[in-house]
Amino acid sequence: MKKIYNQKQLSACLILVSTLFLAVTSSAQMVTIPIETKHNALVLQTDKDKNLKMVYFGARLSDPAEYSRIPKMYSQSNDSGVLDDAYTPSGSANLAEPAITVTHADGNKSLNLVYVSHTITKIDDNISQLTVILKDPVYDFEVKLFYKTYYKEDVTEQWSVIRHGEKGEVILNKFASANLYLKGNGFWLKQYHGNWASEMQPEEARLTHGIKTIDSKLGTRANLYEPSMFMVSMDKAAGEDEGKVLFGAMEWSGNFKIDLELDPANNLRLIAGMNNAASEYHLKPNEDFTTPAFLYTYSEHGKGNASRQLQSWARKYKIVNGEGPRYTLLNNWESTYFDFNEDKLAELLKDTKKLGVDLFLLDDGWFGNKYPRNSDNAGLGDWQENRQKLPNGISSLIKEAKADGVKFGIWIEPEMVNPASNLYREHPDWVIKQPNRPEKYFRNQLVLDLSNPKVQDFVFNIVDSLFIKNPDLAYIKWDCNAVIYNAYSAYLKKNQSNLYIDYDRGLYKVLARIRVKYPKVPMMLCSGGGGRVDYGALQYFTEYWPSDNTEPLERIFMQWEYSYFFPAITSSNHVTDWGKQPIKFRVDVAMMGRMGFDIVVSKLSKQELDFCHEALKNYDELKDVIWHGDQYRLLSPWDNDAASLMYINSDHSKGVMFNYLVNNRYGAGTKLPIRLKGLDPEKTYQVKEINLSSGTNPAVNTETLTGNFLMTVGINPNVNEYHTSVVLELHAVK
Ligand code: GLA
Repeated sequence: MKKIYNQKQLSACLILVSTLFLAVTSSAQMVTIPIETKHNALVLQTDKDKNLKMVYFGARLSDPAEYSRIPKMYSQSNDSGVLDDAYTPSGSANLAEPAITVTHADGNKSLNLVYVSHTITKIDDNISQLTVILKDPVYDFEVKLFYKTYYKEDVTEQWSVIRHGEKGEVILNKFASANLYLKGNGFWLKQYHGNWASEMQPEEARLTHGIKTIDSKLGTRANLYEPSMFMVSMDKAAGEDEGKVLFGAMEWSGNFKIDLELDPANNLRLIAGMNNAASEYHLKPNEDFTTPAFLYTYSEHGKGNASRQLQSWARKYKIVNGEGPRYTLLNNWESTYFDFNEDKLAELLKDTKKLGVDLFLLDDGWFGNKYPRNSDNAGLGDWQENRQKLPNGISSLIKEAKADGVKFGIWIEPEMVNPASNLYREHPDWVIKQPNRPEKYFRNQLVLDLSNPKVQDFVFNIVDSLFIKNPDLAYIKWDCNAVIYNAYSAYLKKNQSNLYIDYDRGLYKVLARIRVKYPKVPMMLCSGGGGRVDYGALQYFTEYWPSDNTEPLERIFMQWEYSYFFPAITSSNHVTDWGKQPIKFRVDVAMMGRMGFDIVVSKLSKQELDFCHEALKNYDELKDVIWHGDQYRLLSPWDNDAASLMYINSDHSKGVMFNYLVNNRYGAGTKLPIRLKGLDPEKTYQVKEINLSSGTNPAVNTETLTGNFLMTVGINPNVNEYHTSVVLELHAVK
C-alpha cells in the first residue's frame, strides 16, 4: 500500500537532512526546533538543563530566526518550569500530569527526560519527519518523539517510541502519543458524545481549570459513547470561517485518553494517547514500544478550513484509494434482516440492476449450519454458508450477480463469536472472557482474542478464503458489534494488562495482511453503526458506516459533524425506509457521500423509481465533485431552519449545493439568500436545480450568475414546506 512504509524502506529512500537544517541555535546550550507546515509552526526549545519545551504553536513566522525570541514575549507564571514540557515525565521534579509514567526494572518510579539530539528527514516534497531523542540521565531509558508533517495540508501526525536497556522488564504505566502546550486567551472545546443510532452529537464549552478527559475504555467499538475527535479553539470559539482552531484525533481504534488541562499559567496542556486504564504495558529490554499517532491540524481561518485540510490529507495519504472511485450499492439488511434464501436474493440481484446501482451487498445472516445465523444470537464464528438458505453457496450468487451485470459484496463480523457456535466450542481459549466469572454478552456475543497470533490467522483466513473461493467478490462490510467485557486473554497468561493494546495491534496486523494481498478492494468499516470511525482503522478501509440511524433528518446533523474530520468519499450514506421523509429527501441526503440504498426496490412506485434513476444519473455526473472536491458548510442545521452545504472541484468549474429543511414549524424555510463559498469570483456559473420530483415545480429557476454575486449576495434555494430539499448544480459557463 502506498501509505504504509516499513523502517527499512524508509531508511533506504529517505534523505537525511542534517540535525541543524531547521534548528536555530541561539546559544551553545539552547536548541530551537521549528516544525513548520505551509501556514503553521510548532516550536520546540531546550532550556538550560536540556529539558525540551513546547514554546509556540500558531501561524508560522516569515523569519525562522525569530522563533527563538517568542518565549520572551510571555510573562505568565510558570515558576516550577514544568508545565510546558514537550513530553512530560513523572516521578522526578515534574509534578504536572505526565505524558509518561514508568516503573523501572528495579522498581523505581522516577523518570527524567532530557534532549539528546534530533534529525529531520525529508520523505518527499510535501512530507517531513522530525525525530527528537530524549534520554534519562540516570536510567538506560529513551523516548523518541516523532512529528510527521504534511506541508500543504497543514497536518501533523505525532507519536513516540519508548525503549530501554534495563536488566529486566520495565512497566509502562502511561505512554502518551503527544503532549502539546497551547497558549491563548481562553480555550473552547468542541467534543462529541453518542450511542447506538445517535452518533456524533456535539457539545462545545469553554474549558475551565483542571483536567477535562475524553476517553474510552470499551476495548472494541471504542467510539460508542465518545469518539477521540475534538476541536480546541483559542481566544474564542472559532466559527466556520474565522477563528483559531486545532482539530485532533487519535489514529487508534482501541481505548484512548485525551487530557485537556487548563493549567495554573492559563495555558492548555494537551496529552493524547492510548488509554492506560488497566493497561500497564510490560516492555522487555531493547524492544520498541511504538504508540499510535495523534493527528492534528490547525487553522487561523475557522473550522471549515481546518476540515478541508484534514479531508484532503485523508484522501491523499490515509484512506484506501482516497483519490479513486466508489461503488453505488443496494444492501439487503433492512429489507430482509436474517430472513432470506436463494430465491429472494436472486430477486434482489435483479432489483440491484433495476435500480441501476453497481453492487449488491449481502448483509448478516448467510452463515452457520449447526448454529444457523437466523437471528443475532447464534452463528458468529462459523463462516460457512448456511446450506438451507444458500444450498449453492456464495459462488453461485456471485455468478448470478455477474449474469445480471452487477457486482457482489458481503458482510462479515470476523472479530466476534456467539457462544452458540462451533467456534466457541472448539476454541474456548480464543475467546476473551474471565475464566472464573459468568460471561457477559453484548448483542449475545463475545470478542475473539486478537492478541493471539492463531486468532489473527483465523480472522485473516475468513477474508482470504472468501476471496480465494470467490475471486469476483468485490466488496466487504466489516462489522464489530460488541465491546470487551471481562477482559482476559488465555494467550497472554500473566501479561493481562497488555490485552487492550495487543488486541488492537493484532487487529491492525490482520488488516495490514489483508491490504498486502488485496490492496484496493473496497471495505466498509462498520461497528454497530459508527462505533469505530478513526484513522487508525480507516487506513485499511475505503469508507465507514456513520450510524445505523439512516433517518435523513438525523443524518443531516450527523454527516455534518463527521464531515469536519472525514471526507465525503468515506461516508456510506444509504437511502432506507427510516423516518417519514419522501424518497427525494432521502436520496438528496444520501448523495452527500458514497451513496447506497437499503430499501425494497419492488415497493417503489414508478414515480419513485424514475426519480431514483434520474438522481443516480445526476450523482454519476457529480460524484467526482462530491468525492474529491472541497466541501464548504454554508448554513448550519443547528442554528437555522435549513442546512446548506456545497462541494466544488479543484478548478472551481463544477459544484453542487445541497439544501434541506430541518425545522417543521409554520413558515420555516430560507428567507435570505445563502452565500456560496470557494467559487471563482471571475467565473460565471449556471445554477440549475436537479433531482426534481416529477410533478413538482422547481424551487429555483435556472440562473446564470457570477461567482462574485454568488459569494457576495448568494442565492435563495427557497427551501420551505413544499420544497424540503433542493439540490443545485453549478457549472462555470465562462
Ligand atoms: C450492525 C450494523 C448493521 C447491520 C447489522 C447486522 O448493527 O451496523 O448495518 O449490518 O449489524 O447484524
